[in-house]
Amino acid sequence: EDGKKGGFAHYMLKEIFEQPQVFYNTIRGINDAPLPDCNRLRDPVTVVACGTSYHAGLIFKYLLEECCQIPARLDYASEFRYYPPPASGLVIGITQSGETADTLMALRLAKAHNCHTLAITNVLGSTVTRLADTTLYMRAGPEISVAATKSFIAQLAVLMQIVNRFRGNSQTETLLEAHKAIEDALLMDFSETVGLCENAQSIFYVGRGPFYPVSLEGALKMKEISYIHAEGYAAGEIKHGPFALLSEKTPVIAICMPGETYDVMISNIKEMKARGSPVIGIGRSGDTDLPEICDLFIPLNVATLFTQILTATVVLQLIAYHTAEKLGRDIDRPRNLAKSVTVE
Ligand code: G6P
Repeated sequence: EDGKKGGFAHYMLKEIFEQPQVFYNTIRGINDAPLPDCNRLRDPVTVVACGTSYHAGLIFKYLLEECCQIPARLDYASEFRYYPPPASGLVIGITQSGETADTLMALRLAKAHNCHTLAITNVLGSTVTRLADTTLYMRAGPEISVAATKSFIAQLAVLMQIVNRFRGNSQTETLLEAHKAIEDALLMDFSETVGLCENAQSIFYVGRGPFYPVSLEGALKMKEISYIHAEGYAAGEIKHGPFALLSEKTPVIAICMPGETYDVMISNIKEMKARGSPVIGIGRSGDTDLPEICDLFIPLNVATLFTQILTATVVLQLIAYHTAEKLGRDIDRPRNLAKSVTVE
């Protein structure tokens, strides 16, 4: 088994390190694939997914609405059936394994309501591929570790490519550049961050706009493999409740990238600092505010929104990994979790 890990201590770390290549391969693969036709997008788009795949869906919803002005609905697959079904249109199921019962069930229901169904999956011949009208494949290769990492980056690659196609932009080359930024993030040292996280009672991950789902995914990785309670929050919501929990034992990891969310993130960070939480800021290298107001600053070379999303994701995966490693957890097989959940 050690041989299969290619010299890495865990499959999870190996899979994290495969991400630049996975991203590249998936972008290239999607380039040749027929995408759902743009006319369908005059109808409503609905996305259904679970777990990490749901977080990819949330980023996709943001990008579709912000970059393509296409309204999108996103449901937890397990909740889809409790709401009125979309009258028609496109229903996209995102599922790494292609076997998640809740996602399959939601797509069956969508078909029964005459929606066109599109599956985004990593597994050739999986159940979802037989169910959906169309399938797009991520090219992540087999993912062994229970916590999803490279499949998430591959999902983002597919979804970003769809967004580009829908906005009539064939910026594949620019998108491909992002794999270099992911590579840079892999070389960073997170020991100081781990020092702030390993004894935490709870960790809050905060961001705004597209960085809110990135925060959710970062927190999910942390709880899955380190067993430290972590929550992803829309940064503006922290004052509506979680403020009561902030102390020196609840570090905050804040994603604060240049752009429309920047100024208000800075003031949110100051508010959280004032309530005693150590703050780890993730931002653009060269930022001068963050190193001043945060206890730790993680600088990233980020040119585009897509790269910001991708690299912040990778950084959060590594923080979770190294924290869990420090705590001696069973990283590839966390307690009580399964790689694919085939019951509702
Ligand atoms: C399980 C896994 C998660 C995954 C979720 C959805 O809970 O532990 O890592 O995100 O299922 O899986 P899917 O295969 O549908 O993406």
